[in-house]
Amino acid sequence: MFDLIVIGGGPAGYLAAERAGHAGLKVVLFEKNSLGGVCLNEGCIPSKALLNSAKLYEHALHGMAYGVKTEGVAIDQPAVVARRGKVVKMLVTGVGAKMRGAGVTVVKENAVIKGRVEGGFAVTAGGQDYEGAKMIIATGSSAVVPPIPGVKENLGDFVVTNREVLELKEVPKNFVVIGGGVIGLEMVAYYATVGAKVTVVEMLDHIAGPTDREISAMLQKELEKKGVTFLLSHKCLAVETGKVIAEAPDGGKVEIPADKVLLSIGRRANLQGFGLETIGVETNRAGIVVDAQGRTNIEGVFAAGDCNGHVMLAHTAYREAEVCVNTILGKKDTMRYHANPSVIYTQPEIASCGLTEEEAKAQGIDYEVKKLSMRYAGRFVAENEGADGLCKILVDKAHRNVIGVHMIGSYTSEIIWGAAEMIELELRVKDAKEIIFPHPTVSEIIRETLWEFKD
Ligand code: NAI
Repeated sequence: MFDLIVIGGGPAGYLAAERAGHAGLKVVLFEKNSLGGVCLNEGCIPSKALLNSAKLYEHALHGMAYGVKTEGVAIDQPAVVARRGKVVKMLVTGVGAKMRGAGVTVVKENAVIKGRVEGGFAVTAGGQDYEGAKMIIATGSSAVVPPIPGVKENLGDFVVTNREVLELKEVPKNFVVIGGGVIGLEMVAYYATVGAKVTVVEMLDHIAGPTDREISAMLQKELEKKGVTFLLSHKCLAVETGKVIAEAPDGGKVEIPADKVLLSIGRRANLQGFGLETIGVETNRAGIVVDAQGRTNIEGVFAAGDCNGHVMLAHTAYREAEVCVNTILGKKDTMRYHANPSVIYTQPEIASCGLTEEEAKAQGIDYEVKKLSMRYAGRFVAENEGADGLCKILVDKAHRNVIGVHMIGSYTSEIIWGAAEMIELELRVKDAKEIIFPHPTVSEIIRETLWEFKD
C-alpha cells in the first residue's frame, strides 16, 4: 500500500507528490495526459512563450525608438508555435525528473477511485489496482463550453479554447474573442501584436474581471491603440461559420466577421469521470469542498488546485498542495488567500495583490490610496520608450498596513511578490518604507509610491 495517492499531475498534483516524496512518503501519482497539467502543456507556459515572441517582434518593429535599425521584421507563426512546443517539452521532462528525484511512482493512466479499503482507498488505472492510505485529488479544470448555438459544433476548429489557440499555424485575419478575462486578454495581446484584427465580446461593462477598474481601463486603452475593438456589455448569441453574433446593450444584433473564435468565458473544476462519488466526496457549484487545510468531508481525502474551485491559479495550487502535504505529515499549516498575487501577462502586464479599491469599499474598510506613474522609476523610462503605467497602493487607515498593490507596466509580474510579502506580513507603511530596493529597477516604483504616504 502507498502512503499517498495523488490524482492529477498538474501544478497541485506534481508538487504535492514531490513534497511528499521528499518527506519520505511512498507516493503514486496518476496522470492520464502529459505531466505538468494545463498550466505547463496548454496554459501558463506555452502562452508565455508566444507572448515573448510578440514582445520581441514589437520591440523590433519599434527598434528605431531605441536607436536600433531593423528591416524586414516579420512574425513567423509556425516558428513561434514550434518554439512553444520545445519549451513545453523541456519543462515536462523536468517535471518527470523531479518525480524520479522524489521517488514518486508515476502512472500515466486515467485513475478511477474504486472505493475504500482497510486503512485507505483503492484506485484503478490501466487495468491495475492501487491502494493508498491518503489521497490528494488534483484533477484541475476545463474550459466552460456554453450552450451558445454553433459553439459545440465548431469546437476545436473554427471555435478554439486555450488549448488550440496556442497551436494556430496561421495568424487569423479576423480573430474574435468571447470573454474579456485573463485567457482572452493574453491571447488578444498576442494576436493583435502579430497582425490579426481582434474583437472582444464581453458581457460585463469592463474587461479583466476583478482587476482594479482604473488599471483594467488603462489596459483596454493600450490594447485599443493596437487596433483591438472591445464590445463591452455585449452577450454572445451565436457562432456561425465566418461570424459571431452578439447582442448589444440596446438589444440590437451585431455581426462580427471571424476567421477564428476563441472561447474564454471561464473554467470549471473537473469533478466527473474519476469516481469521486463512490466515496461520497462533497462538492458544490465551484468544486470540491475543502477546509483551510485542504481536507474534504472524507477523512484522509484532500483536494488542491483548480478542482477545489477557490482560485484557479497555478501558484495558488502549489501552496494548496503544500498545505495538504503538511497536514498529512502532521505539521500545522493553513491556506491563506489574502496575499495571493495575480498577473495578466499582456503587454503591458498587470500585477495585483490584495484588495482593490472596489473590494475595500465593499468590505467597508477605511483606506487611503496613493498612485504614481511608472515614469517615476528610472529603469522603466530607460527601457520603455514612450510608455507609461501605474502603481497604486492601498493602506488601511486605522492600522496603517499595506492591504493592496496594483500595477500596470512591464516587469510588474516579476516584482509583485515583494508586495505580496508586505501584505502577507501585514507590514505597516513606515516599516515597508525602510526596505532597500535595488537601483535602478522597476521595483523601486513600489518604494516611491509608499513614500507618498505620510506614514
Ligand atoms: P475569466 O473568468 O477570467 O473571464 C471570463 C470572462 O468571460 C468574464 O469577463 C465574463 O464576464 C465573460 N463572459 C462569460 N460569459 C460570456 C458570454 N456568454 N459572452 C461574453 N462574455 C462572457 O475566464 P478565462 O479567461 O477563461 O480564464 C479562466 C481561468 O484561468 C481564470 O480563473 C484564470 O484565473 C485562469 N488563468 C490565469 C492566467 C494568469 O494568471 N495569467 C492566465 C490564464 C488563465
